[in-house]
Amino acid sequence: MDRYITLIDKLKKERALSAKEWAVLIKNRSPKLSEYLFSLAREEQERCYGKDIFLRGLIEFSNYCKNDCLYCGIRRSNRAARRYRLDEDTILSCCHEGYGLGFRTFVLQSGEDAAFTEARLANLVRRIRKDFPDCAITLSAGEWSKASYRTFFDAGANRYLLRHETRNDSHYSMLHPPSLSAKKRRQCLWNLKDIGYQVGTGFMIGTPYQTPELLAEDMIFLKELNPQMVGIGPFIPHRDTPFKNEPAGTLELTLFLLGCIRLMLPKVLLPATTALGTIHPEGRELGILAGANVVMPNLSPKSVRGDYLLYDNKICTGEESAQCRDCLEKRINAIGYRTVTARGDSLNL
Ligand code: 5AD
Ligand code: FES
Repeated sequence: MDRYITLIDKLKKERALSAKEWAVLIKNRSPKLSEYLFSLAREEQERCYGKDIFLRGLIEFSNYCKNDCLYCGIRRSNRAARRYRLDEDTILSCCHEGYGLGFRTFVLQSGEDAAFTEARLANLVRRIRKDFPDCAITLSAGEWSKASYRTFFDAGANRYLLRHETRNDSHYSMLHPPSLSAKKRRQCLWNLKDIGYQVGTGFMIGTPYQTPELLAEDMIFLKELNPQMVGIGPFIPHRDTPFKNEPAGTLELTLFLLGCIRLMLPKVLLPATTALGTIHPEGRELGILAGANVVMPNLSPKSVRGDYLLYDNKICTGEESAQCRDCLEKRINAIGYRTVTARGDSLNL
């Protein structure tokens, strides 16, 4: 136990561990160790961001996807998914509604939908930028060439979310079709950084074949990339995917890694994800108490919310945008934090 406490102290002091140390720490975690980790993580969080929790309005604008990731409910081969694509006017009106609710960051997320060409997506960004000069625009729309990423940036996008999913090349190929590679994914992230985006990456906890050694590689990659945001959440099986019978990732390990990430990258923006709220009724609150400082209530129109299903039992599919916002605010206040609608740029710029 003391040996592992020492590793946590080292992580806090040096903001890094070796791959070996990460694997040892992850394997030997315990409730006592987590408690200690979370108290240090909260200290760091408070030192950097006080009791502020940032709200981002999430608009899931298309669930068409040309990819076929084995874990994902909107993968191309899932014929059972009801597909939708929001038009530009609808997306703009989601932003207007969100602005009225106080949001100053819009996160536009979709599958890799071929109908949203580079020109069309850039135009959309331009229209949002024109209507909301004071807001941050975050894209989360998969892999593109560096030139396309630059076009979106020039159109007014500020941030980009693209999870690396797993740092290990062979693990990546167990979760994805042969057309996708870990190397290409990482190159996209370096390109985004180079262009000047605030970049978010991340991975799922408890994916099939994941081991502490593989998680160690993920932690080391996070340190190397030094992103402004890190999104992690439990893997949750989706009934119409090849991983339907695989067990979900646990709350316990997800919280542990949230705490570790807060200690390693103290200034990072770290969401308590919807997936975390899905595997446990207080998952998001527990995430905040382990070091997370962002929540992303859904701004998608109610008519399509139940169709953006990456995994089973997703929460908040029946609520209005205002309901989700109020619900989260109450939950956050109840644990002694406050929601902030400011743009909330990372301190890690
Ligand atoms: N369970 C949890 N998270 C998932 N994602 C995709 N499918 C699932 C699933 N079944 C995550 C991926 C992706 C992000 C948008 O959602 O990490 O990058
Ligand atoms: Fe959507 Fe609670 S956050 S209903």
